[in-house]
Amino acid sequence: SAITHRTDQPSSISATPEMAKIFDLIIINAVIVTASDISACCIGVKNGKIRALVDSFADDELSGAEVIDAEGAYVMPGGIDAHVHLCQDLKTGPHGLGGECADNFETGSLSAIAGGTTTIITFATQTRAEEDRSLLKVVETYNARAEETGSYADYAFHIIIVRNDQDILENELPVLVKDWGISSCKLFLTYDTQRLTDSQLLDVMFEARKNAITTMIHAENGDMIQWLTGKLEEKGMAAPYYHALSRPPIVEGEATTRAIALAQLIQNPILFVHVGSVLGAANVRQAQTMGLPVYAETCPQYFHLTWNDLKRFHSPTCFENSKMICSPPPPPSTLDHEELFVGLSNGTFTIYSSDHCPFRYDHPHGKPSGVLEHPESMEGETISECHGLKNLLERKQGAFRFIPNGIPGVETRLPLLYTGALATGRITPQRFVELTSTNPAKLYGLYPKKGALMPGSDADFVIWHPEKAFTPFRLHNSMLHHNVDYTPYEGIEFVNWPRYTILRGKVMWANGKAVGKVRDGQYVKRGPSQLSHKSPRTDQDPYRVANWLYE
Ligand code: URP
Ligand code: ZN
Ligand code: ZN
Ligand code: ZN
Repeated sequence: SAITHRTDQPSSISATPEMAKIFDLIIINAVIVTASDISACCIGVKNGKIRALVDSFADDELSGAEVIDAEGAYVMPGGIDAHVHLCQDLKTGPHGLGGECADNFETGSLSAIAGGTTTIITFATQTRAEEDRSLLKVVETYNARAEETGSYADYAFHIIIVRNDQDILENELPVLVKDWGISSCKLFLTYDTQRLTDSQLLDVMFEARKNAITTMIHAENGDMIQWLTGKLEEKGMAAPYYHALSRPPIVEGEATTRAIALAQLIQNPILFVHVGSVLGAANVRQAQTMGLPVYAETCPQYFHLTWNDLKRFHSPTCFENSKMICSPPPPPSTLDHEELFVGLSNGTFTIYSSDHCPFRYDHPHGKPSGVLEHPESMEGETISECHGLKNLLERKQGAFRFIPNGIPGVETRLPLLYTGALATGRITPQRFVELTSTNPAKLYGLYPKKGALMPGSDADFVIWHPEKAFTPFRLHNSMLHHNVDYTPYEGIEFVNWPRYTILRGKVMWANGKAVGKVRDGQYVKRGPSQLSHKSPRTDQDPYRVANWLYE
């Protein structure tokens, strides 16, 4: 059975050959996968939109169209990576610890495209500096950075809010929603230069709620981290490995519980970003069981790295383990991976993003030393010294508290999920699409323009290799397109990789080569979340907490 949509077809087909062209692009022998279905069919694209899904095309329909033969491989909606840091400021870094973001919109979006992602949502961040108070100014600044280079992928912004200025929230949030289509903000419970107290969180969540803005929460208890960091440093435990020990799972456990309670108090939909612990996932699950609009994002690092990876390098210095530092840290062991995989398949996790936060290792403002001096050589030290380095702190070099948090991964996101979860049968192809494209589109107000294979949707696709025709390979950083000098996934064997990435009908990546242009990507305005309740919701209050707040 065919689903076709021909309403905007020219009524007269007699004129020029150009007018006779029915489709610009046709994909044949596709196995299309959506969040709900798998079906063998062909796709017709016109003017950057999907126009037809059919069993086959007649010859006249093929004429003039570019034809791609998917050879029986999966064709999915283009990946949407809803958590990408690009061009974030040196003065505070993406986490307030300094460090220089290695990717701009050009390199970051190219890396996205090469990994099957057609839309990225990046962060524009307010800071505590007086001149960065205005959220509108901040967004203009970040948008200028994107426009300076252009982008290979379509892009949007989340706004990071680090102050509870009532005037700014009241005056600017409605403008962000209306003029910029920014319908999500991120708030922090950790990082000294960014975190908000509970009452400040309530201030911002309340205003966000009134504007139907989805609140994204970085859930780690900042006090626990500070206290543990002090205790570790007293014992000389300052090497990169101890970053993980300063953030055991209860740090995320406490913060998720608290944020859920705050959100429940004012009936605010929330999305926990980068959930990396079994405890965090369990808290999310429990809230969902209560019927609360609580969503969770997880990331590749929580399925492919463990605490052991923070001990991976022993020479020439253990500074190199800083390459694996991110917050929350990877979980303690591979047993955690298995439990987190359950959350991927059973719906606890709503979306799967990269948290691409690129810092170069070999750079004075990169990984090993934060904003401080480039580390001296530490050749000759023994492994046990390497993990206990007392003098790191005195030298303010390489001690974990000075190391920028975050790892790269926008390009490896989809292939890692394919390899680790789809090919192993842990998730279905439909769930793959839901996690990587459809749910991010719904959650962040991009659906069904993005995240869908429906007539009228943007013709954004990732086309995989037919599985039988693909020879598994081991990843080396030199194969990637980011501007980072390492990948945490070096040496991992991949069982598939995007063969084509197509953005609004334009082939951007084909058979291992980037073929698009850096100005092909466009800014996308978003609407309200389509997963959460309408806001403000005053008609019902199952928990009898806050109806009167919105009256
Ligand atoms: O370590 C991380 N995740 N760095 C990126 C900044 C953030 O908190 O998302
Ligand atoms: Zn974060
Ligand atoms: Zn070491
Ligand atoms: Zn992040």
